[in-house]
Amino acid sequence: MDFLKWVVLILVSTSFCWVPISSNLQNPKDLGKDYLSYAKRTELVEWMVGIRRRLHENPELGYEEFETSKLIREELDKIGIPYKHPIAVTGIVGSIGTGRPPFVAIRADMDALPILINQIVAVQEEVEWEHKSKVPGKMHACGHDTHVAMLLGAAKILQDHRDDLEGTVLLVFQPAEEGGGGAKVMIEAGVLENIDAIFGLHITNTSPVGTVTSRPGPIMAGSGFFEAVITGKGGHAAIPQHTIDPILAASNVIVSLQHLVSREADPLDSQVVTVAKFQGGGAFNVIPDSVTIAGTFRAFSKESMEKLKQRIKEVIAGQAAVQRCNATVNFSVENKMFFPATKNNEELHEHFIKVAGDMLGVRNVRDRQPLMGSEDFAFYSELIPAYYYFLGMSDESIGELGHPHTSSFSVNEDALPYGAALQASLAARYLSEALSNKSIHAPKVNTHDEL
Ligand SMILES: *[C@@H]1O[C@H](CO)[C@@H](O)[C@H](O)[C@H]1NC(C)=O
Ligand SMILES: *[C@@H]1O[C@H](CO)[C@@H](O)[C@H](O)[C@H]1NC(C)=O
Ligand SMILES: *[C@@H]1O[C@H](CO)[C@@H](O)[C@H](O)[C@H]1NC(C)=O
Repeated sequence: MDFLKWVVLILVSTSFCWVPISSNLQNPKDLGKDYLSYAKRTELVEWMVGIRRRLHENPELGYEEFETSKLIREELDKIGIPYKHPIAVTGIVGSIGTGRPPFVAIRADMDALPILINQIVAVQEEVEWEHKSKVPGKMHACGHDTHVAMLLGAAKILQDHRDDLEGTVLLVFQPAEEGGGGAKVMIEAGVLENIDAIFGLHITNTSPVGTVTSRPGPIMAGSGFFEAVITGKGGHAAIPQHTIDPILAASNVIVSLQHLVSREADPLDSQVVTVAKFQGGGAFNVIPDSVTIAGTFRAFSKESMEKLKQRIKEVIAGQAAVQRCNATVNFSVENKMFFPATKNNEELHEHFIKVAGDMLGVRNVRDRQPLMGSEDFAFYSELIPAYYYFLGMSDESIGELGHPHTSSFSVNEDALPYGAALQASLAARYLSEALSNKSIHAPKVNTHDEL
């Protein structure tokens, strides 16, 4: 595919300048600590913090990350890292290393969130600080600004240690994680072609700075959305016998939907059905013609997602019919996509435990429960070995950090060097260890010769 050809050509053509013939990590166990102290140098920290703050002031929503993308490309130019752009509108893939296999990717999402009351009224970031969002109704309220800054930090670390790389690291700057499925569009553009593994992270206020949390297997749920219109016959509230009341029908639909998880799902297979929208009527004394309800459902397996989808449809239609109403159910509402569950590869979990443990100390690498939230990193994890983890940022001395997806969300920038160093060393050590597995990668070398 075009994309891979580009990576090989760019890197082979530039590699004569700086890529060593042979490179070996002296002691892989020390690499993470070296990268972390490199990342903690004032110069690098200030650079990452500066980038994060510029992004924070100018948040851009999914597929509109034009200035964000430009800023990233300017910084990659300064570091001397070649990249391909645009991919999926605003996406960028940079490359560092030999231009040859193995290929490993590290990923950051770039988009900000709409901050709206009832999805309509724009509100302003509530955190009072010098670099607060300058755009009413938009904010980096999920920390993707830090993800971008940390991936650029990792890029800088790897570029300055490129002799360590026994293969190629791809830097995946992805648009539209928040519901837009940017990962899927990046994949359709060929980004995963011949990539052996991909790592992603999310900043979290649920564990202290200097710690990471993750687990093997499912870590984030799959999610789907639905909207239903329940139609009756409107009329005067005082003469119900001449109407078919969709408000009551919709109320019973919602109650019945709550029985799907409590009565039909395996209690050990976590699932959620939530109706979050109920719209109908506008007066005290008029029964409306119809009601619209909408919500989301979550589960960790394809089978459970499919079963929920099927039963949501049946329950809405069946329960509406009990009260003589008709119902239509739509599972492709607005731009909301169906996300699969995010599953962490077991071998990459071992790799993560080892690399993060060597860098942070084993006590600071902790297990966590899966989350019912979803993440479009799932699209990568469906196709290749993938690993997603949470980077702690809480610190008692600075107090509570607001919750993600709210206008009071804030981050602890002290976490930036940890994320940058960890992404860099997960990738570098993956390459050195994968390369010793010659049998696995031999066929891929041939593919590259053909290009
Ligand atoms: C439901 O649909 C049927 C068939 O189209 C129609 O005859 C009936 O009037 C509808 N009922 C309501 C309450 O809209
Ligand atoms: C579902 O809703 C979307 C708008 O959100 C609309 O474009 C589409 O036609 C609807 N599909 C059905 C089957 O009603
Ligand atoms: C190396 O190959 C073995 C056997 O196929 C496999 O179990 C192991 O995970 C591989 N290691 C890496 C780093 O690819």
